[in-house]
Amino acid sequence: MAVRRAEAVKVDIITIFPEYFGPLRVSLLGKAAERGLIEVAVHDLRTWAHDVHRSVDDTPFGGGPGMVMSPVAWGEALDAVMGSGSHGTRLVVPTPAGIPFRQETAATYSRMAHLVFACGRYEGIDARFADDARTRVSVDEVSVGDYVLSGGEPAVLVMIDAIGRLLPGVLGNAASAPDDSFGGGAGPMASLLEGPVFTRPRVWRGREVPAVLLSGDHAAIARWRRDEALRRTAALRPDLVTALPSGTLDRRDRQVLTEAGFPVPGEDMAH
Ligand code: 6GU
Repeated sequence: MAVRRAEAVKVDIITIFPEYFGPLRVSLLGKAAERGLIEVAVHDLRTWAHDVHRSVDDTPFGGGPGMVMSPVAWGEALDAVMGSGSHGTRLVVPTPAGIPFRQETAATYSRMAHLVFACGRYEGIDARFADDARTRVSVDEVSVGDYVLSGGEPAVLVMIDAIGRLLPGVLGNAASAPDDSFGGGAGPMASLLEGPVFTRPRVWRGREVPAVLLSGDHAAIARWRRDEALRRTAALRPDLVTALPSGTLDRRDRQVLTEAGFPVPGEDMAH
């Protein structure tokens, strides 16, 4: 049974581009919000700016290109969205210099009561903001991949999508999340890329659906799907195969990987 949450997960987003988050009102996440499973509030950082120009950035101490976001407005913005308690709150600061955001990170965040996303722009936020926040709340500096975005906003959309679809009651088919690529934790597809999928018609432009999928033999279908997942992962993400915990590969798994030309640890490579 899915775990039921007592209350909606509360999400505060602080940004200088509030309009960027319009997409959160559509599709899966829009429905989750309508149904009270997730409660998103978007805040304009400039609300907490003090000068007439409502500026939130300044030149970097020590010189160099670009601008750095001032900790002054950021500190007040965080105080405002934190309200009384920080229990069950995680402050997430998107940055290409952060820890990788993975499926398990999404799962962890989906169990929090309150998430605060602080979207930096320019060359980042003055480091004292996160240091000060850490004295009151758990802070994660998080990257969504090895490339540079012009700001944290698209990264936050990505993270909230990945988190939102894990909330109990958000996915139409509650069973489908564990089978995804990076299914997460346990389950047959943990840490493997998902293989190909098919629907009607049985033959399309001369291409047939693999016969095993029409066989009704559920064990054979599960085995075939795992074979395909292993082949695809070996071809596209060999790093994920290498990282599989020892003991997660059965004899057939090792055979499939060997046939795919993948060096399987524990196999006698002399033959
Ligand atoms: Cl989270 N932010 C920015 N600005 N760039 C990124 C990123 C985040 N993750 C990868 N590149």
